Amino acid sequence: MDLETVMGAARDASRSAYAPYSNFHVGAAILTEDGTIHAGCNVENASYGLSICAERNAAAAMALANPEGREIRLVAVSSLDASPCFPCGACRQVLREFGCKEVVVEGESGFRRYPFEEILPHAFGPKGL
Ligand code: THU
Repeated sequence: MDLETVMGAARDASRSAYAPYSNFHVGAAILTEDGTIHAGCNVENASYGLSICAERNAAAAMALANPEGREIRLVAVSSLDASPCFPCGACRQVLREFGCKEVVVEGESGFRRYPFEEILPHAFGPKGL
């Protein structure tokens, strides 16, 4: 699976963002180890704190789609409103739960790839329990 395809899915998802309060539109696409893409967009709420990020909605889509295919190879994040757009701290922890190995964001001059350990070092995870 090439990166452009995964980022393309993130870009497409950002067009579905429901972001009437921040006007900040984000799309995320998770590529699982079995080669499946699961996308999500941010969905805000009039009760601001209930808003959910694109990355977490993508993780929820992945969890629903296939309980046997929840190992995350990488996540791609796209927003026309910020370049690059990095996952927030809460989303990093959720991505960590499913073994995410890499984060890819879109910068002015192309894709930037980060090993997950750099994005969330010394993370608490399932094996810590
Ligand atoms: N947001 C995401 O969906 N993902 C990110 O990586 C950063 C922030 C959303 C949350 C909220 O709806 C809006 O962007 C502004 O924070």
